[in-house]
Order: sequence, then structure tokens, then C-alpha cells
Amino acid sequence: MKANFARIYEYYKQLHSRNGADNGGIEGYKSTEVGLWAYSRATFVLYFFKKLSLNTKSLFLDAGAGDGLVVAVASLFTRAIGIERDFHLTQLAKRAFSELELQNASVVCANFLDQKIHTAEVVYIYPDKPFETLTYLLHKHKWRGELWVYGPHITSENIIEISRLKKGRDFLTVYKIVV
Ligand SMILES: C[S@@+](CC[C@H](N)C(=O)[O-])C[C@H]1O[C@@H](n2cnc3c(N)ncnc32)[C@H](O)[C@@H]1O
Repeated sequence: MKANFARIYEYYKQLHSRNGADNGGIEGYKSTEVGLWAYSRATFVLYFFKKLSLNTKSLFLDAGAGDGLVVAVASLFTRAIGIERDFHLTQLAKRAFSELELQNASVVCANFLDQKIHTAEVVYIYPDKPFETLTYLLHKHKWRGELWVYGPHITSENIIEISRLKKGRDFLTVYKIVV
């Protein structure tokens, strides 16, 4: 069956519901080894990705991908990879990509600070804490891509704000690295 947003939306709605939680899914929030998991809102993410023409980017990477919701949506536009430290969340993402038949989506269980994140054209983060180590690494690689930060956050060194998109109470800030 062809991947589309409605299928992704329904799949994750079920996964995040109480019934989904009873079947191995996950409801609400989770404390992980490296931070805190919560999920971006799918319809807002779709809106931002359309506005930012994600289809024109070669590789999208979600740094701290949780259960893969954002990677799933991004994979409708381009090749999308998630990196998530928590094993259970990574397994949920893998299962979702397989069941939804998302050929463009993949996930790796790892610390994103140890991975070659600078090979992506877009790095997305819904930060659970300040992310200056991430921006330092991207700066070190003279990275020319765009950093898309979902929601409220403490601004970081080595970055410059390019634009901010809003939808309802949600927003996404686009940064470039100062090289
Ligand atoms: C707020 S959640 C965002 C999940 C997903 N990106 C979304 O927007 O739905 C942050 C996730 O980042 C993960 N994380 C934090 N630091 C990480 C690191 N250094 N390497 C890999 N994953 C990390 C946490 O385990 C958590 O699942």
C-alpha cells in the first residue's frame, strides 16, 4: 500500500493511545538513558515540512528520533534517517517503518553525537535539553546544512537564526551554522 500521511497519522495515534500502550506501544512521555522522550505533533510537522520544501533536500536526519514519527513524515518528502539512543523506542520506529512500508525511512540505535550527522542536509531536533554539543560538532565540520529546531529551546552557540515558522502554538526555528 502506498505510504501517505493519513496512514502515518492513524498508526501513531493508535501507538500513543492507551490501547497502543497495552500492545507494546507507548503513551505520553518516557525518561530515556540520555534524556526525555515526547513526540512532535504530526500535523504541524507536515505543515512545516511542506513550507520548508523538504522534498528539495537530499537527506533528513532526526537527532533523537524517539519512536520515529518525524522520520516517518519526513520520508514522504525525501530520504530520512533517525538516530535514537533508547533501544525500545528504536524498535518501535523500526516496526512502524516496516508496517507502514516506508522505504525512505530508517533508524539507528546510537548516540547521535557519535554519528556522522554532518552528512545530512537537514538535521531536525526536538530538544529535551540544551544542544550546544550538537552545534559545536556541526560547526567543527563547517556544516552548510539547515538545523530545524522544533518547539521552545535555549539558543546555542555557533548558530544563526534564519527563520521561524508558526502554526497555532507550535513553532519550528531554522538555523544555519556559523562557519
Ligand atoms: C523530545 S524527544 C523527540 C522525539 C522525536 N524527535 C519527535 O520529535 O517526535 C527527544 C529524544 O532524543 C533522544 N536523545 C537525546 N539525546 C540523544 C543522543 N545524544 N543520542 C540519541 N538520542 C538522544 C531521547 O532519548 C528522546 O527520545
